[in-house]
Formats: sequence, C-alpha cells, structure tokens
Amino acid sequence: MRIFNFDELESTSEYLKNKKDKKEWDLVIAKIQTSGRGRRGNLWVSPPGAGLFSFALKEDPNLSMEEYSKLPLVVGIALLEGLKSVVGLDYKFKWTNDIYLQDRKLSGILVEKVEDFFIIGIGININNLEFLGRSKNGVSLKKVSGDEYEILGVIKKIINSFEKYWNRYLRGEWNEILCEINQKNYLLNREIEINFLEDKIFGIGKRILKNGKLEVETVDGIKEFMVGEIHIKL
Ligand code: BTN
Repeated sequence: MRIFNFDELESTSEYLKNKKDKKEWDLVIAKIQTSGRGRRGNLWVSPPGAGLFSFALKEDPNLSMEEYSKLPLVVGIALLEGLKSVVGLDYKFKWTNDIYLQDRKLSGILVEKVEDFFIIGIGININNLEFLGRSKNGVSLKKVSGDEYEILGVIKKIINSFEKYWNRYLRGEWNEILCEINQKNYLLNREIEINFLEDKIFGIGKRILKNGKLEVETVDGIKEFMVGEIHIKL
C-alpha cells in the first residue's frame, strides 16, 4: 500500500480521482481539506484533528454493478468495526453510510467511481472538538472518550478492517455481513422523513434488505428505498 500524506489538500478524493498512475490500495491522507466534499454535493468541513482520507479499490470486471451497489454498506460496517478496535464505543450505522455516536454524526463516507477504480473517501471526527456548518450536529472520538488518537493508526485499522470485510463479501458472506449491519442499524424503529424528488415521505425505519435497500413502514404500507436515491432527516 502506498501512502501519500499531505498537510493540506482541496480534497483527498479529488486528488486520488485525478491521480494518473494510481494503483489499488493507494491511500491519500490530508491534515486539513480546503474543499472537502460530502455526498449530494455538500461541503465536508475538514478541520485539523479529523481523519481525512481516500483510498482506491480496483474494479473487478467479474463483479456486476448490482454487486458493487453494496460496497458503501460494506465500507460502513468495516469502518464501524475498525473504529471499535480503536476504542470500544457504541457506534451505530446510519443507512446508507454514516457512523453515528450518541445520536450525532461521527463519520461520513463518499464512494465514487472513476474509470476502473472506486474511490472511497472517509471523514472521521477524531481529535477535533469543534463542529461547524452542516457538521454542527457532529461528535468526535475525543469529545466522547476524552482521549487523543494517533490519526494514521486509526486510518490503518480502518483500511485493514475494510480489506477483511471486502474479502468476506467476495467469498459470498453478504448475508452474514448484512446481519451485522442490521444489528447496528440506527434507523430501526425511528421516525424518519425521506425527501424523495419533490415529495416528503414519513415513516418508520425498518431493516436493511438483502438488496441493500431500506425498508420503511409508511401509511401506504411497507416501501423500499434505494441506496443513494433519497435523503433522510431525523
Ligand atoms: C458525507 O457524509 O456526506 C460524506 C463525507 C465524506 C468526506 C470525506 S473526507 C475525505 C474524503 N475527501 C473528500 O473530499 N470527501 C471525503
């Protein structure tokens, strides 16, 4: 694994996407980002003390896009388990791919595809104590545990955890992995609001299904929502 370390970058994901000679498992880390990106075009506030990194996974032509649609979920549970090996706190997985701690956002994941690579970008509030802008409802490891963490060590644990989970996924263990994801499902039995196109749909979050969709109980019955299609507010 090649590690590219920077004091400052616009965005680790943007850097890796544009890198010409990238190889699988290349890892780009920045101490701060000036233009960190979140999903749906949101800005990801990237202060010092946060873990800000992206790594590259090479597309396997034998896997279908349908199989790759579970990748964000596999990254999510691997991130949660990786964090647990750093400090054992009560993390939750918020579908589609955020990690929550004490009802606040600890970490977000952005999976993008460029040519035959998936670029997996992860932002984690580790030692930072201020949460600004859209991140104002954030929390960090330090805020909850009171301890400081060595950021590179945390990142390496997460990459190791992802490698382990991805190999399990490739070996056909999706059912078992999904079971672990559902045990940490933050949206289970919570009232949620889904902004879907022009509509707002209210319901109660239920299981994450085998196809990666979220089941939601609405007044019109049980509905399934597709990864990436919707926006959930609590
Ligand atoms: C989200 O919750 O919307 C996803 C946030 C992903 C942020 C990370 S920080 C490292 C990498 N570089 C970026 O510009 N974004 C991701």
